[in-house]
Amino acid sequence: MPHLLFEPHQRLWLLRTPATSYAVRLDEDDNVRHVHWGAALTPAQARELAERTPPAGSSFDGTAGAEELAGEGGARFGPPGLQVRFADGTRGVEWRYAGHDDEDGHLRIHLDDRHYPLRVTLHYRVYEDSDVIERWTTVENRDERLPITVQRCDSASWTLPRRRDYRVSHLVGGWNSEFQLRRAGVPVAETVFTSRRGMTSHHANPWLALDDGTAGEEHGEVWSTALAWSGSWRITLHRDPAGRTTWTGGHGHEGLTWSLAPGETLDTPVFAGVFTTGGFGAASRAWHAYVGRHVLAHPGEPRPVLYNSWEATGFDVDEAGQAALVARAARLGVELFVVDDGWFGGRVSDRAGLGDWTPNPDRFPHGLRPLSAEVHRLGMLFGLWVEPEMVNPDSDLYRAHPDWVLHMAHRDRTEMRHQLVLNLARPDTCEWAHAWLDRLVDEHDIDFLKWDANRPFTEAGWPGHPDPDRLWIEHTRSVYQIIDRLRADHPGLRIEACAGGGGRADLGILARTDQVWTSDNTDAVDRIGIQHGFSQLFPAQVMGAWVTDSPNVATARETPLRFRFHVAMAGALGVGGDLTSWTEDELKEAAEMVATYKRVRPAVQHGTAYRLAGDGALTAVGYAHEDQFVVLAWCPSRPFGHEPGPLRLAALDPDATYRDQDTGATYSGAVLMRSGLPLSLPKGDHASVLVHLAR
Ligand code: GLA
Repeated sequence: MPHLLFEPHQRLWLLRTPATSYAVRLDEDDNVRHVHWGAALTPAQARELAERTPPAGSSFDGTAGAEELAGEGGARFGPPGLQVRFADGTRGVEWRYAGHDDEDGHLRIHLDDRHYPLRVTLHYRVYEDSDVIERWTTVENRDERLPITVQRCDSASWTLPRRRDYRVSHLVGGWNSEFQLRRAGVPVAETVFTSRRGMTSHHANPWLALDDGTAGEEHGEVWSTALAWSGSWRITLHRDPAGRTTWTGGHGHEGLTWSLAPGETLDTPVFAGVFTTGGFGAASRAWHAYVGRHVLAHPGEPRPVLYNSWEATGFDVDEAGQAALVARAARLGVELFVVDDGWFGGRVSDRAGLGDWTPNPDRFPHGLRPLSAEVHRLGMLFGLWVEPEMVNPDSDLYRAHPDWVLHMAHRDRTEMRHQLVLNLARPDTCEWAHAWLDRLVDEHDIDFLKWDANRPFTEAGWPGHPDPDRLWIEHTRSVYQIIDRLRADHPGLRIEACAGGGGRADLGILARTDQVWTSDNTDAVDRIGIQHGFSQLFPAQVMGAWVTDSPNVATARETPLRFRFHVAMAGALGVGGDLTSWTEDELKEAAEMVATYKRVRPAVQHGTAYRLAGDGALTAVGYAHEDQFVVLAWCPSRPFGHEPGPLRLAALDPDATYRDQDTGATYSGAVLMRSGLPLSLPKGDHASVLVHLAR
């Protein structure tokens, strides 16, 4: 069965993924109207549904709720996904269908304005191996003389079937507390999820999951969407009094405009969506598989165990200090050594030097090559921290190019962490950033970059530019372009996305980086919640997780080394403590933990993830991979007499026997799934266990 069917009589398109269907149709007035997003439909069922979909203008409160990209104009009163103004002052659009084409699962529906030279193309892409549907929009000014002002152009609007109630799951947080999962009823209102920061943000993530209030981790209908964009964004969820629930979203926040020059086209980022009947767990697994198959460039590659110097040395970075850490990291079995902030220019604190990207000669008298050579000699890869989008005013770069930063005439330049944002929308700034990065990677044999961005945009102006707002989008595009060029020219280079921790985690950045620094908060107890939220959309493979010192630098909480390791082993394991102060016993235990991680890494990084427990005292995840099943369970504290019961596993063969690779105990698959795995948690707080089962 092809993934795309067109029914010319009804002007109906039916898109099919392995387990779901999506249908839209053209109304008599050439509006593209939503018909269905959910369980798989036959063509006859889709036709029946399309007949029942009310035509445009038939409802008292407008038609915006059910359009594929809600425009402005006519009796539309909901939140618009497309707002344009033509040179003569006319606003809104009236459509004339201009044909469609499809190729390899990619459907394009072309719409022209009936009077003005505006073309909009709605894109849909489906895959044979995923229930995720990708959607985006292109707007094109086909006039030869006049610009068109684009006030809003979303990637897509999504529509749910009518149900009595809906609930939304979303992620909130802040620096050191990213990815906190929240679930709340959808009010009869317009609810805005947004970032106005120029970054994806710590505070909200452009991922949502909707259900009718009855879904659980492993059952129930869930509709989930995620925007592939790493700058400002906005998603407006609208439940109207008549019970329609829709959301529309795309890049840019409210109030930004884009002057579309004659002949110019604006492409929006992908806004992807997935439907499942298997609850939040199945939705996450569908996202994880999609990220592996269609987003990441190197999904099959194991993420190396890394060491990062930040919590150990802060800004006190020099060759001898790093070399001492290198030696200890190698003993632990670390595979990638990353020197963090402080290696360049006058960067001895966060007050100066950002922008001056040459090794500090006092700290590295012979440059970085000796250190990089030593790291390579010990069999590890060499990584370096960079923050290419930012500058300290106290830097040679800023003194030479004060006009390169985002700024506005007659306004203060707001500093955050003593730094300003470079306007990478400027071609000269973008070229400069690419040139030094390219040279740096070449000259120092760099295998890995941690690409950081530590502050949001403020005074985001571009004096002298006729259309300054476009920097909000062009800046992010330049970041993408620089990374894309670096990766093309240095095929071995791997990149970690960071923005003061998890401030830039999204499907857009993951299409060009390999992992995300999840949070600057490395406290293992706090991390359990952060990782739970992160896992809603992102696979373990991209979740950077370090084991650091105890007491933790952020929370002062003391936890055993084993607990810290077990929490970090649920992602791409790293170590970030001051190894020079670890005892011989700790180093020995850490080396054993790293070895165990390498043994279970194929399951954690390439398996299928199940959130096995997450309420109350115990949190547990399981990873199924080929004939293996790995369990990580954490119990920060429990009252006397309340030991967690057996943990029910998933995705096993009920008829098979599974052996614990460490203790030799055996269990039947059926018992593990129905009754559960008895957990032998050590006594006391911060108890944890790893169980590695093999069939
Ligand atoms: C950010 C990152 C940290 C570290 C510092 C360095 O906060 O998230 O991991 O790299 O910058 O200044």
